[in-house]
Amino acid sequence: MESWILITLVTIPGVWSGNWGVRLENQCALKGMSTVIKCTYDYPSMNIVTSVTWYKAIRESRGLMLYRLSSLRKPRGHFEYQGDRWSDCKLKINNVQWSDEGSYYFGFETTLNRWTSRTHAYLSVKELTTVVQPSTVTEGERVNLTCVSGCSEPMDVVWFRDGQPVSSVVFQASRRDAGRYHCAILGQEHVKSAPVALNVQYAPEKVKLSLSPVGDIMAGDTVTFTCSSDANPPVTESGYSLYKDGEFIGSGQSHSISDIQPGHMGRYYCQAWNNVSRMINSTEVLLDVKYPPMNISVSMDPPHVVEGDGVNLTCSSSANPAADNYTWYKRTAPSSSSSLLQVGSGQMLSLPVMTPSHAGLYMCQVRNTAGVSNSTEVQLVMVEKQSDSPPFPILAGIGVSFVVTLVIAALLFWKKWRTSADKKNAMTDLKQGGEEPIYATTTDAVYASVHMGPTSAPLVSAQASASLMNSHHHVNTVHNPTLDDDEVTYTTVTINPRNKMNNGRTPQDTRCKPERSDDTVIYATVVT
Ligand SMILES: *[C@@H]1O[C@H](CO)[C@@H](O)[C@H](O)[C@H]1NC(C)=O
Ligand SMILES: *[C@@H]1O[C@H](CO)[C@@H](O)[C@H](O)[C@H]1NC(C)=O
Ligand SMILES: *[C@@H]1O[C@H](CO)[C@@H](O)[C@H](O)[C@H]1NC(C)=O
Ligand SMILES: *[C@@H]1O[C@H](CO)[C@@H](O)[C@H](O)[C@H]1NC(C)=O
Ligand SMILES: *[C@@H]1O[C@H](CO)[C@@H](O)[C@H](O)[C@H]1NC(C)=O
Ligand SMILES: *[C@@H]1O[C@H](CO)[C@@H](O)[C@H](O)[C@H]1NC(C)=O
Repeated sequence: MESWILITLVTIPGVWSGNWGVRLENQCALKGMSTVIKCTYDYPSMNIVTSVTWYKAIRESRGLMLYRLSSLRKPRGHFEYQGDRWSDCKLKINNVQWSDEGSYYFGFETTLNRWTSRTHAYLSVKELTTVVQPSTVTEGERVNLTCVSGCSEPMDVVWFRDGQPVSSVVFQASRRDAGRYHCAILGQEHVKSAPVALNVQYAPEKVKLSLSPVGDIMAGDTVTFTCSSDANPPVTESGYSLYKDGEFIGSGQSHSISDIQPGHMGRYYCQAWNNVSRMINSTEVLLDVKYPPMNISVSMDPPHVVEGDGVNLTCSSSANPAADNYTWYKRTAPSSSSSLLQVGSGQMLSLPVMTPSHAGLYMCQVRNTAGVSNSTEVQLVMVEKQSDSPPFPILAGIGVSFVVTLVIAALLFWKKWRTSADKKNAMTDLKQGGEEPIYATTTDAVYASVHMGPTSAPLVSAQASASLMNSHHHVNTVHNPTLDDDEVTYTTVTINPRNKMNNGRTPQDTRCKPERSDDTVIYATVVT
């Protein structure tokens, strides 16, 4: 209790003594409140009070000056005299302001005299202060609200959070308790403290990973993952991280992938944390990338097809959504798209009976909703039915005949070189008048072409060596019947053994036609 009674007019002992005097009490008031300065006055009994006046002392350079309250610029009704003309001189001050603090004096006039108090009543102006302890809490922690009044007089207070009444001054904080608190005087709620914020921190919630754009994502698109959460304090940029199938991708609230590829498909989630919490997982987002058929391959079953057997060509591809439309093409002429003939549809092309006409280049075209792609062309080769002799004798025969042929050919060539100059014209004549050579068209025989003159039968056949050979040797022989001599006059030989002998010597009368691309072929042309 800060008010105390000041006895004014100490020169006059006693109150209501009939002497001149004013008794005042100091007062403490909260800003915004109304307060009453208590006051009584006294005077000798033969006086009649004619006027009363309250003054406020204002310190100026020339000293303390007393001003009538009515001369202060205050709203109407701010000061309210509640005393009377006899003995009570109490003053009510409404809506006390900081500027009201100070010393107040009371004076009165009577029919005989005038009197101003020698002492004053001091008005202290204070305020309410809210204390929130602690002002930052983690959810679940205990919070205490205290209202501190500057005046010692106990007062009933009420509490508000963001303008709404609060029932309890001690509580376990939840995020709904966050806000600005103030206390106020019960019944005078406009007399209130300044608001104080309570910050309730909590771990990230509603951690959510979103993917843009929404809808189908095609290979090559740019995709952005964004992680969001509700947290206090808010999750910082570095508090977010993105994972794919459990593997860390990067940190940050959003993450973009340009040129998205099938390899990016997977389950994504993000994590968020603030310093209240550990990592909190988001729900998963499944990234599905649509792409046209890729990695198309054609497999053949069986890989080597024998004439008359069946073969299946199967087209496989990687596509999302799975490929559902296959078209098969066969190439009918080299390198022109118009030469592709559509031969079937479906993932498998079945050829139940292989014939030579089926051999060739095949391609499959695969389609899904994302696009269409072609396979490379694959060669379907037909293997002919074989009833051959075993391979070893063939090789042996080839070896022997090769050596023998070489020796004979060398011999004949040497002879021809000696005499060719003399005989050239004769040979030319022969060729012009001769029949066309006969070419072998099958592969299993020894081939010979013999040019016959108009009159005579063949005299010499240089087939001694060739007869040793088997199917892979082709010999064209040109015999010159116009020469009467028994001796061999000239010879032209071209020998093309296994990748070796190819000396470019190809005289004009040599007739040579390889039918097959066998490894070992010896051609010889002998003219006698
Ligand atoms: C939480 O983080 C904020 C900002 O980074 C920091 O100011 C605050 O002190 C931290 N609180 C705790 C309890 O670590
Ligand atoms: C988040 O998810 C990953 C993968 O499912 C799991 O290993 C991890 O324990 C989870 N973390 C939390 C905090 O739930
Ligand atoms: C296509 O093949 C390549 C090489 O084998 C592979 O890296 C890629 O993942 C495949 N693409 C698809 C969509 O399967
Ligand atoms: C080709 O496929 C069909 C149907 O699946 C099957 O009946 C046939 O035996 C297959 N042919 C070959 C040569 O695999
Ligand atoms: C495959 O695609 C072609 C071209 O779009 C279409 O004409 C054909 O009808 C489709 N076939 C099937 C079985 O869907
Ligand atoms: C695939 O083959 C079709 C059929 O001939 C052709 O029209 C198309 O241009 C080819 N597409 C590609 C990408 O090669």
